[in-house]
Amino acid sequence: MKINLTTKSLFRQKLPAVILFAFEDEQPQVPASLAPLLRRLNHQEFHGEDQQTLLLHTAGLSDVAAARLLLVGLGKHQDLTRDRTRRAFGIALKRLRDAGIDRTAVQVHCPSPEALPTLVEAAGLVNYQFTQFKENDHKPALAALTICLPEGSKLAAAQQLVDRTQTIIESTNYARDLANQPGNVVYPSVIAAYARRLAQETGLKCTVLDKAALEAGGFGGLLAVGGGSARAPHLIALAYAGARDPKAKPIALVGKALTFDSGGISIKPADKMEEMKFDKCGGCAVLGAMRAIARLKLPLNVIGIIAAAENMPGANSFRPGDIVTSYQGADPRAVTIEVLNTDAEGRVVLGDALVYARERQPQAIIDLATLTGACVVALGGFAAGLMGNDAALQEKLRSAGETTGERLWPLPLWQEYKDKLKSDVADIKNSCGREGGAITAAAFLEKYVGKIPWAHLDIAGTAWTTEERAYLAKGATGFGVRLLLEALTHWSPA
Ligand code: BES
Ligand code: MN
Ligand code: ZN
Repeated sequence: MKINLTTKSLFRQKLPAVILFAFEDEQPQVPASLAPLLRRLNHQEFHGEDQQTLLLHTAGLSDVAAARLLLVGLGKHQDLTRDRTRRAFGIALKRLRDAGIDRTAVQVHCPSPEALPTLVEAAGLVNYQFTQFKENDHKPALAALTICLPEGSKLAAAQQLVDRTQTIIESTNYARDLANQPGNVVYPSVIAAYARRLAQETGLKCTVLDKAALEAGGFGGLLAVGGGSARAPHLIALAYAGARDPKAKPIALVGKALTFDSGGISIKPADKMEEMKFDKCGGCAVLGAMRAIARLKLPLNVIGIIAAAENMPGANSFRPGDIVTSYQGADPRAVTIEVLNTDAEGRVVLGDALVYARERQPQAIIDLATLTGACVVALGGFAAGLMGNDAALQEKLRSAGETTGERLWPLPLWQEYKDKLKSDVADIKNSCGREGGAITAAAFLEKYVGKIPWAHLDIAGTAWTTEERAYLAKGATGFGVRLLLEALTHWSPA
């Protein structure tokens, strides 16, 4: 999608349609011929309520150059949030898409500096459709968007903001596109190929540990979980060095990438099992974030680590009762795991990945994982679970998510939950029942991070959506990419 910026009025744009935002409690500034019409509408069918739209033809309105005018409500001005703007604009653009219109213009609806990137985000996100296997049967995306800025705006600075936002959205959509692909097309070695290609394109350094390397290194968790699959597990690391001090400690982003999670021997019920192609969304978010970090040349060192495996039942599967030895890395001892449920596999692969991250002496670790159904029960689809060992890091991420519309909500990690991990035969067990399941999973991960500041995002409820949202189609949402970029852009060393 091409974005043009201008200080020329919305009403002078010769386009098939233009979009006019309206608040419930304010009359918009409009040309003379339009004002009486809006007043009449205000008494009847359009009051500017949140998410309300009305598409008008402008025939007879001499001072509106566009053929159609789409009125879009934003509710009361004082209730305006960034996400309300995203939602309203997403709905507006879908309305035009349905009408077959692929070029439009919009006026920045409030003078705050956040308004411009918010519009670009919504447009870029709503424009994404997963069409790879359905090429002839979808509505054409928006080709060009003109954003009209107030007179006297600095266009060069605004253009920079637009470019930056578009890079982040492209990276989010890159993550969605990878995540939406099914398990027969995207499996661990394919994720590795994506990472290698990304590294070539952006100058990242890519390291891939294939099955032989995992065996040589003693990555017992990844090997156990991936054992039942014909597609071998991989550990993928991408390194970005952008800090002024090249020795600066990196920030580690760790992602769970189960390209399909059948549950393994503790197999899942058939209902909704197809959604488990999305069990790689944490890893996809890490890839997307690394792409944007490299393209935007952030002044930080960052490593992205992806634990990729497929969890399948088979003759070589790990089984309930097995005792698995995690990767040891630089630790004096490796953690041993009693496997009670092969469907609690995410924590087992993440254990290896977290030790690998810690070996690189990061200043902080942030992991993203579709880790537990319990988190979906707790928070539904509107917030990811946030846990960790560092209040400042958690707050940094929470507030970044508030800004980007990717909400995080804290869950406690009290000692009583950690006590539940105790096993009779190994250091910890991988499943401790349904109660507090999101928290006991996080407590498991904490065993691997030691004292390093760490935050865990359980994105099981937010990584994909089974219902269309205002600015997100069904399928993978790219949850985490924008949030990580927001947090890292304003990163201050702890
Ligand atoms: N990938 C799933 C978690 C999941 C389930 C995410 C449904 C989104 C929707 C994970 O590997 C899993 O199966 N977790 C189990 C853990 C349990 C066996 C302790 C779960 O949540 O049921
Ligand atoms: Mn599972
Ligand atoms: Zn899983």
